[in-house]
Amino acid sequence: MGRYNKILIVMAAGSGSRMGASIPKQFLDLDGKPILRRTIETFVSAVPDIRVVTVLPKEHIGFWKEYCLSNDFNCPQLLVAGGITRFHSVRNALERVPDDAIVAIHDGVRPLISTGLIKTMFDRMEQAGIRALIPVVPSVDTLKVLDRRTLSSGEEVLEDSGEEVDRSRIFGAQTPQMFLSRDIKEAYSQAFDTSFTDDASVARKKGISLSYCAGERYNFKITSPEDLALARMVISSWTRPGSGS
Ligand code: C5P
Repeated sequence: MGRYNKILIVMAAGSGSRMGASIPKQFLDLDGKPILRRTIETFVSAVPDIRVVTVLPKEHIGFWKEYCLSNDFNCPQLLVAGGITRFHSVRNALERVPDDAIVAIHDGVRPLISTGLIKTMFDRMEQAGIRALIPVVPSVDTLKVLDRRTLSSGEEVLEDSGEEVDRSRIFGAQTPQMFLSRDIKEAYSQAFDTSFTDDASVARKKGISLSYCAGERYNFKITSPEDLALARMVISSWTRPGSGS
């Protein structure tokens, strides 16, 4: 066991409006279990003594308690109500976290992360000198910088800006993003800024130096019905007899 307590803050307080379902996407079924449960179980199986803070929409806290009770999901969780944006949700959770821990902030809708990545990241965080660790994946598509223009007919068209992007320098940031809790709590005491698109951007504004590691293609965020269909295919390929996993 390492020097630090390990804490998972699992973000599940979004309304999931892009999915078009009647319940938020984090509660939808993925091969027999809610997406959120799968995410939490993967962290607990990677780090059995991890402490879990689950951030939920205020109006779904009762629903989640009831689900856990009636489905024998016994993992101890501190349930916290989310806020108006993800930033406010993370801030609410950090108020409940002690100063001397390593905190992993993870989107509840990224259930396909491997236990290997979780363990490797916590191990690196225990090394001296690392204050924040962010998993990233290289950009596979060629990137275009386009301008949106609305025609007099009201139709929106995309136009070439003439700018080129060097794809080899562009990466997509995933979660979990890991921090020393003292650092990230201080960073989240800053006023909200619309440029805060992830926890790393909040930390960077506070001057915390960021380290990076390789993320995983399967660790994608389930946002749309297509993503959910993809996640279902991935899980069934992992659990199919003879798949070796
Ligand atoms: O909306 P987006 O896909 O960026 O959300 C990423 C994660 O942050 C999701 O797991 C969502 O539940 C969570 N979130 C939150 N509180 C909000 C908005 C999003 O916990 N107010």
